[in-house]
Amino acid sequence: MPLTINNLNHRIHDGHTERWLLTRVSLNITPGECVALTGDSGSGKTTLLNLIAGLEPVQQGEIYVGGQGLQHAKDKTLSLLRKQTLAMIFQHYNLLSSLNVMDNISFSARLAGRYDEEHSLSLAKNLGIDHLLDHYPDTLSGGEMQRVAIARALGPRPKLLLADEPTGNLDNSNSDKVIAQLLSLAKSHHSALLMVTHSSSVAEKMDKIYRLKDGLLSQQSGGG
Ligand SMILES: Nc1ncnc2c1ncn2[C@@H]1O[C@H](COP(=O)(O)OP(=O)(O)OP(=O)(O)O)[C@@H](O)[C@H]1O
Ligand SMILES: [Mg+2]
Repeated sequence: MPLTINNLNHRIHDGHTERWLLTRVSLNITPGECVALTGDSGSGKTTLLNLIAGLEPVQQGEIYVGGQGLQHAKDKTLSLLRKQTLAMIFQHYNLLSSLNVMDNISFSARLAGRYDEEHSLSLAKNLGIDHLLDHYPDTLSGGEMQRVAIARALGPRPKLLLADEPTGNLDNSNSDKVIAQLLSLAKSHHSALLMVTHSSSVAEKMDKIYRLKDGLLSQQSGGG
């Protein structure tokens, strides 16, 4: 299973007081499943992705990514997991400005020791950025940068792809195009996808929709 969360509780410091941000959160994502994560600003969506990526320590409960438990995992295990098993796509692309598009796309796969030129080129082609391979990020449009970030994330063939509002900076028509490409690539790679989105039209394209509210995660009708 790419992702299993059992009874996760997460407490944060809010000024002088402590409060529970996440309570009894449980979630299963099966291979190739595409799941939307919605919820008001401040409801804890990014925090939940950071916990799944091993960027914040698990306080109570269990998270398994590709069968590996994150609770009590050592830093080395977590960094290996980030290289080999999961990938993240951020709202602000996080492209490497000193590398051209081809090297940006290849970066994660090389880091994972799984670079395959043919695979990188086929991702670029599928995302319609193969004419930009020798361009540098500062010459690209927002939609182009986001497609480079998607190609880079899929390069190492991750079991689980985490995306935090990946089209937050794009207009609706570009956003729909990029999401459609992301979904079809995730499906064809059997990569599970957990994507934060504020857009209901984006959420409706996913297999399942979950909502975070008052610390609780619940499945919504719709999606699929
Ligand atoms: N390490 C931390 N220490 C203290 N407070 C934190 C920490 N991380 C997050 N928070 C708080 O937790 C709440 C949830 O933040 P988070 O970024 O997860 O929300 P979000 O659902 O992603 O919101 P948005 O939709 O605006 O991105 C916020 O009130 C934030 O200030
Ligand atoms: Mg957020």
